[in-house]
Amino acid sequence: MKQQRIMKTNELELDAVRKSVREHYGKIGSRGSGYGCRPASGSAPKPSLPGDAVTLSRAIGYSAEDVHSVPDGANLGLGCGNPVAIASLRPGQTVVDLGSGAGFDTFLAAKAVGPEGLVIGVDMTPEMISKARQNKAKGSYGNPGTQGGLPPDDLQPAGAVSRCFGAHRI
Ligand SMILES: C[S@@+](CC[C@H](N)C(=O)[O-])C[C@H]1O[C@@H](n2cnc3c(N)ncnc32)[C@H](O)[C@@H]1O
Repeated sequence: MKQQRIMKTNELELDAVRKSVREHYGKIGSRGSGYGCRPASGSAPKPSLPGDAVTLSRAIGYSAEDVHSVPDGANLGLGCGNPVAIASLRPGQTVVDLGSGAGFDTFLAAKAVGPEGLVIGVDMTPEMISKARQNKAKGSYGNPGTQGGLPPDDLQPAGAVSRCFGAHRI
């Protein structure tokens, strides 16, 4: 009984965390710019314009080609590192981008794995999913997809990229 009550409390706490994360990133998704992964009160630069997102991305390891090869609106300045650069992706691989946002790293990973590869962007914030889909519709960017749930069970990714969690070979 006590155990059940503890589990219920934890579930409620987790729901509150999810709600808060969705609200935070939902606003950024709707507004179209962010503040990186740092706390809003930190001393690091806080981009608020699309141009600032490019400056921030260049400062944390994205090349000029990276920032200009994705659709406008995919880079929201939410960076704290460049996971695609350290993932050593190869053509034809399948990759999951966890916490894909508006698709910045998803599009870069799609370019790295090419048309024979597949990138699944996964995000818990509906505004981000819809932003990523709008961005995908802006042109031809390889084979990126974005969804709100978990990747399909039968997917066998070679790796996972995730801003703030780094790149992982599976
Ligand atoms: C710092 S942003 C990075 C977005 C994107 N990768 C980029 O580089 O622009 C983090 C994203 O992860 C999503 N997110 C956070 N926790 C998540 C989780 N547990 N499952 C799925 N998405 C999550 C948020 O909704 C948000 O869009």
